[in-house]
Amino acid sequence: MKVVPLPLAVLTLFISGPVWTSPFSSNYESENEVASRDASQSGPYGLRNSRCKEELVEVSIKSKNFRFRGVDQYYSNQSYVTGQILEYTLAPKNWTDKHMDMSDTFENVKTYKINTYYCEPIKGAKEGSSLISMLHGIGFDSSYWDYNYKLDYSFVRQAASYGYSTLRIDRLGCGKSDTPKNGFDEAQAATEVAIYTEILKKAKQTTKFGGKKHERITGIGHSYGSIQTQSVSSRNPELLDGVILTGYTTDTSNLVGYLQTTAYSIAKDTLPHLASKPSTWLATGSEASDIINFFYPNAYDQASFDLARSTEQAVTLGSLFTIGTVSGTAKDFKGPVQVVTGAKDFIFCSSNCWNGDGSNKLEGVKDLYPAAKSFDTLVPEAVGHGVTAHRAQPEISRMMLEFIMEKGL
Ligand SMILES: *[C@@H]1O[C@H](CO)[C@@H](O)[C@H](O)[C@H]1NC(C)=O
Ligand SMILES: *[C@@H]1O[C@H](CO)[C@@H](O)[C@H](O)[C@H]1NC(C)=O
Repeated sequence: MKVVPLPLAVLTLFISGPVWTSPFSSNYESENEVASRDASQSGPYGLRNSRCKEELVEVSIKSKNFRFRGVDQYYSNQSYVTGQILEYTLAPKNWTDKHMDMSDTFENVKTYKINTYYCEPIKGAKEGSSLISMLHGIGFDSSYWDYNYKLDYSFVRQAASYGYSTLRIDRLGCGKSDTPKNGFDEAQAATEVAIYTEILKKAKQTTKFGGKKHERITGIGHSYGSIQTQSVSSRNPELLDGVILTGYTTDTSNLVGYLQTTAYSIAKDTLPHLASKPSTWLATGSEASDIINFFYPNAYDQASFDLARSTEQAVTLGSLFTIGTVSGTAKDFKGPVQVVTGAKDFIFCSSNCWNGDGSNKLEGVKDLYPAAKSFDTLVPEAVGHGVTAHRAQPEISRMMLEFIMEKGL
């Protein structure tokens, strides 16, 4: 199998996540909940130890975007969407030669309203701990990290149970953040990396989140969120002290499989909760296309899938076709790195992350981190791409937090 480092690749589009929004998304908790804390608590302070603040934040950016040529920026029918995906996946180079001159870029100067959640432990804040900042992937919003299926599926709650504060945002076009109408030139990977970079700067240099400057930040991504986190660690290594990339490898061999089997469909015509999205925003075409890409059969509860599907979030063609353009070697990133990808990840491992000789496909990521203090991989069995919705999620969360504590983050 071929392992192509993402960088230039135009063929390396992809990624995604499935579905849902979180019912107790703003899990404001009262102090007395602490007293009745759940017996299934993970860390010493239990799973009802987080107090959150939800806030829309204005983020001004200037990103270097591709100027797509010969496309309909405001596409509105399924024939067009499927036609572009088909042409692209059957002959990626032909498609990009025709529509994407890699040197034809423009400055995207914009201010977006981005929805954020800052959560801190009600008690037991861990001394000297880093702020854990989390970025979700395609198909989800920030509730990916506060997955409301069961208490212990929430990474936010797991982190707070060990005394960690967390920050998560709804990516552009997801959750309660702004949604551009343009389907190609605006919602691109570069736009989102610029947004996330500004959010991290605010967390580090201002008192915007939690009334204090966060000197140290651990960045965790999932899928497209991992690609963007990786990008920040290469372009602005000073913003992150440690990195955990989940649902991610540098193996792009199944991107075509991903783009074809998701059967991306105009979201407003597909999922009732996305009825107000512009026609340029797309969701997986059916439960089957969602499952093959994001779930490993029999490794999740039906109610967990239903939650993901009923809260699934959308993506544009512009995002899908630029995903492979922001990664790079993080030659100056000196912190610890962990990669966590389910053994059955369809998108990044073609449903098998093991090579057969004991090595795994996550190890290719090491090439992007030549100066990292340490590099670890974790390949949980019986887990597909949308990790958070699987039965192994609580245990995986605990293992990630163990890594964070062990590395002194
Ligand atoms: C779909 O939209 C494209 C432009 O986005 C247009 O050229 C085409 O005629 C439309 N097709 C149908 C079937 O409406
Ligand atoms: C891609 O372009 C080449 C050269 O123009 C052409 O021969 C080939 O048929 C094209 N492939 C597809 C699938 O359109």
